[in-house]
Amino acid sequence: MIGPADTRATGLRPGRPPNQIELDLERRSTRSIVVLGSGGHGRELADIVRDVQAHDAEVSLLGVVDDACPDLGVLARSGIRFLGDSSALEDRACELFIGVGAPAIRSQIAESFADPFGPLIHPTAIVGSGSRIGRGSVLAQRSIVTTNVVIGRHTHVNLAASISHDCSLGDFVTICPGVQITGSVDIGDRVFIGAGATVLPGVRICDDAVVGAGAVVTRDVRRAQTVAGVPAVET
Ligand SMILES: CC(C)(COP(=O)(O)OP(=O)(O)OC[C@H]1O[C@@H](n2cnc3c(N)ncnc32)[C@H](O)[C@@H]1OP(=O)(O)O)[C@@H](O)C(=O)NCCC(=O)NCCS
Repeated sequence: MIGPADTRATGLRPGRPPNQIELDLERRSTRSIVVLGSGGHGRELADIVRDVQAHDAEVSLLGVVDDACPDLGVLARSGIRFLGDSSALEDRACELFIGVGAPAIRSQIAESFADPFGPLIHPTAIVGSGSRIGRGSVLAQRSIVTTNVVIGRHTHVNLAASISHDCSLGDFVTICPGVQITGSVDIGDRVFIGAGATVLPGVRICDDAVVGAGAVVTRDVRRAQTVAGVPAVET
């Protein structure tokens, strides 16, 4: 269903005749992308969009929006256009990717906007057979998703992380750089897995859990539990 939030990012307006909606859908073949968030994660995401753009002329980065005060110097040095606060998205037909690393905040922001039309997959990322990646999710440089993996909406798999066979990741999950998720791991919504952590086969990590950097997770993690260390224990 197309609701008010949807019209904001897609440019679709309720009540248009069907032929007009078809025209809008056709226009979706060109992906104009805005990143929300100008911090480190947002700028990394903007770089991913530009790398995708270099391989796909249908994709373009319009710029970043941020409701907080951005560092205009670093944006200028990075060649990233600042479009203003999120009101700059009104009347703009674009896809919005949320450049915020914290799962709960990403989830809150997503409530106000339409989901992008698909995921964002860096040209160096690998996706195996039968795997499905949800709208608004991001696979960063050299990340690997092998076979029969399901990834939900707005989940970010960062640099050189790997997700092995038969895993399931929910919505708004953040997988930090260098994480290794082995086979048949089940990860809930809004889970944060810190840099370089390893999750052993068959482990279940429930919603809102946090795994510390470098942890080796050998057992299931409860909802909202924080674990760290080798083997990982509650902090
Ligand atoms: C695990 C983590 C979430 C805990 O954060 P926190 O609740 O603020 O914890 P604190 O920093 O107060 O540390 C609490 C204790 O846990 C220890 N600790 C913190 N992180 C740890 C980790 N990753 N592994 C092992 N021990 C850790 C601290 O040394 C401290 O021990 P002490 O009480 O004996 O002094 C956090 O340290 C972490 O690892 N975050 C991941 C960050 C990351 O990977 N970012 C990548 C961005 S790309």
